[in-house]
This record gives sequence, structure tokens and C-alpha cells, in this order.
Amino acid sequence: MDLTIKNGTIVTATETFKGSVYIRDGKINSIRKEGDSVPLSDNIIDASGMYIFPGGVDPHVHFHLKTPAGYSSDDFYTGSRAALFGGTTTIIDFVTPERGQSIIEAVKQRKAEAEICLTDYSFHVSPVEWSENTESELNKCIHEEGIPSFKVYMAYKNSIGLEDDEIGKVMSVVGKSGGTLAIHCEMGDAIDVLHSIFASEGRLSPKYHAFSRPAYLESESVKTAIKLARETECKIYIVHVSAEDSVKHIREAKKLGQKIFAETCPQYLLLDKSKYEGDFQQVAPYIMSPPLRKKEDNRALWMAIADKTIESLGTDHCPFTMKQKEEGKDDFRKIPNGAGGVEHRLELLYTYGVNTNKISINRFVEITSTNPAKIFGLYPKKGEIAEGSDADIVIWNPEKEKTISAESHHQNSDINIYEGVRVKGGVEYVIKAGEVIIRKGKMMNSSVKGKFLKVDLNETNQEY
Ligand code: URP
Ligand code: ZN
Ligand code: ZN
Repeated sequence: MDLTIKNGTIVTATETFKGSVYIRDGKINSIRKEGDSVPLSDNIIDASGMYIFPGGVDPHVHFHLKTPAGYSSDDFYTGSRAALFGGTTTIIDFVTPERGQSIIEAVKQRKAEAEICLTDYSFHVSPVEWSENTESELNKCIHEEGIPSFKVYMAYKNSIGLEDDEIGKVMSVVGKSGGTLAIHCEMGDAIDVLHSIFASEGRLSPKYHAFSRPAYLESESVKTAIKLARETECKIYIVHVSAEDSVKHIREAKKLGQKIFAETCPQYLLLDKSKYEGDFQQVAPYIMSPPLRKKEDNRALWMAIADKTIESLGTDHCPFTMKQKEEGKDDFRKIPNGAGGVEHRLELLYTYGVNTNKISINRFVEITSTNPAKIFGLYPKKGEIAEGSDADIVIWNPEKEKTISAESHHQNSDINIYEGVRVKGGVEYVIKAGEVIIRKGKMMNSSVKGKFLKVDLNETNQEY
């Protein structure tokens, strides 16, 4: 099977040029600049007027995540299908063991759950406690399972969160191996105290979720994470940065040469705390951790993307239905935390970043695809348009316009936090491993199967 995409504008993190891409056996076989002869092929897509991007890499999704309100409402099939409709061809999800469960057993269980995934995928493994087996299990993840990437939570202390000294131990192990530790930064103990105070005062409506998680509890936690990582020489990736002061700490640490990466998500760039005004039905969709912040924080995050303090855009895709959110109708602490967005990451960043000249189109490709692939050891198979890379490609129509809505999205939820938001620029074709999967808003091949991406640290570009 071969395919030629001709007459498009090829965009990578570093270059923009007119040309054609010839694909054979699932890989990019050759790239020709405009004017050069194009290899003959049985299948041709004319991409005149379109951009050709590497497939999106979303480094932060929670498909089929177990919570007290039931599983997040997208499983690996529905979530990855929605991802493909939005131009994301690789996702990174999580392995979150129960306390007391073997990490390796949880990895195997998660791999089985992910077999229905349509995109390619890998995982961050979350140690949720420190036990006598943790060090050897983390090393097994790296050397046997092909997963050198981990995640710890400084919040959620009574379920999956770790104490600072335990995080230091995880960092020592991960740092020695050259792996990466992703961190959810919020000061869990202080949040728990605020929860108790609010509960004792009967302040349990959804907006108190946001009041119980102020920005300084995120930025202080970022400071601690940076300090621990410096002491243990561990490469860290701070997920879903939402607050201006967090950005300041990260910028400072990067200036001092520390190996630290930061991610934000479209919701923290585009939405703000005004979403917490209203009745339960209006506010509950926006209950997520960290919560939405001020407009000043939105602006600081855009600037941090432009000056490379923030290197990566994830979604933290974790949708629930309104029925699930209603578990917390009388107590915000029971509202499941999270919102969907895997389908909208590219169109939102393109519309509100590229079209408004906040970022260049190359920076768009860099933070939605190339950098997440580099940081997590998937580059140059993923995140690049180059000879030998996987033929995961998005053909992007810069003129396509639509209004986002739960009525028309592919995410499995009756909620969409971007309801009514207009976007300009969207997916025309999605090609995965050389096959056309999405064509003009329709799925062409529903038997497509994603594969688990085993990472070998010896083969990856460790310079990043
Ligand atoms: O509210 C959120 N973000 N839910 C998903 C879990 C997490 O903290 O990343
Ligand atoms: Zn988180
Ligand atoms: Zn998350």
C-alpha cells in the first residue's frame, strides 16, 4: 500500500515548505519539495491549499479512569476515536495501580484495557505508595516493559498522592535511569484542610472546589517539585500548569539549567474562573484540578508558550457525564474531577494561537506533536515529517470553520466545556501508519488498530 500527498504545505517544528510526501508500508518514504518529481503511487491526495502536519501527540489523557463516580466516560476506543477526529494519532495515558497492588500487574492490566485503542499509545506509570518493591518495579517498567515515564501526584493524598519524601525516592530511581517523572503539583494536605473547613461551614456548592485549590497551592508545590528534582537530578515534566506564579518558578529553574519541562492544556489558556459562577449544571462541567484561574493567568501561559517556558500542550482529557458530575450535587468533594478535550486540542490552539499570531505555525506543531514525542522518547518515529518516520499525518484545512458542541463531538459525554466556541482551521484527512482513517469528517477504516509504543532509552534522543 502506498500513498502520495501532493501540493501541500509541509509544516514541521522548524520548517514550512511546499511539497509532497510519499508514503510506503506505513512509513514516510520520501519528501519532495515543490517542483521536484513526485513518485508514482496508486493513491493520491491533492493537498492544495492545505497544511501537512505530523500527527498530534497528546501526552496527557485519562481514558477509562476509575473514580468513585465510575469510570471516566471515554474508554480507549471512544477516546482514541475522538482523538483521531481531532488530528491526534498518539496518546499517552496512565497506569494507576490500587495501593497494595503490584505495579507490574497494573501495567499488564492497563495494556489489556488499551487493546481497543485506535491511536498508538504509551503510558506514564504512577507509583501511588512507596513500598519495599517500588524501586525494583520502577526499574522493571523501564528495562522490561519499555515505560521510562512516570507520574506522581502531590494532591489526592488519601487515594493516589505521595508524600514529598516518597516523591524524592521515586525521583532518585527515575533520575538514575534517565527516565522522566511527570508531576501533578498541588499541595494536597493544605487542600484537605480547606475541604474540612468548608465542609464544617456548609460551603459545599461546586464553586468551593475552586476556592479550596488556590493558585498559590499549585505554585508552592511546583517550587517543592523543582527543589526535589534538583537534589535528585531527575528530569521532570510538570503537568497542567495553570497559574502565573508556577510559570515564574519554572522559568527561573530552566534559566539555571535544570532539566524541567512544563505542560499546559487548552482549558487553562482559554477558559477562566468566571465559569464558577452559576448553578450546579453550569458550574459542574468545569470542576477539574487544578481549577480554572484568572484571565491574567491565561495571558501568562500564552507568554510562557511563546518564550518556551512551556514546551508541551496536553489535554488532561478526563470526561464525565452530567449524571456522574451529579454525584456531587450536595457536596463538591464528590464531583468527579476532569473534563474532555482530546478532540479539540489542535483546532483550539490553531484558532486562538496561530490565527491570532500569538504563536507561529511551527511552534504549534512543536508543542502539539514534536516536543511531547521528544520528551517521552517517541521521536523521531512520532512528531516529525521526515524520511523513516511513521506515516502519521494530518492534512489541515485552514479555512474550515465550526462551532464546538456536545451535540456533534465524538467524545463520549453530554458535556463539552468548549460548548459554543468557534474554531477556524480543522482536520481534512488523518493518516495513521500510511492509511487514511479520517476523510472530510468521516471515519474511513474502523478496523484500524493502535499499537503500544515500547520506549528503549538507549535508542531515544536523550539530548532533549
Ligand atoms: O481534574 C483532573 N485533572 N482530573 C484528572 C486527574 C488529574 O489530576 O490529572
Ligand atoms: Zn493531574
Ligand atoms: Zn491528568
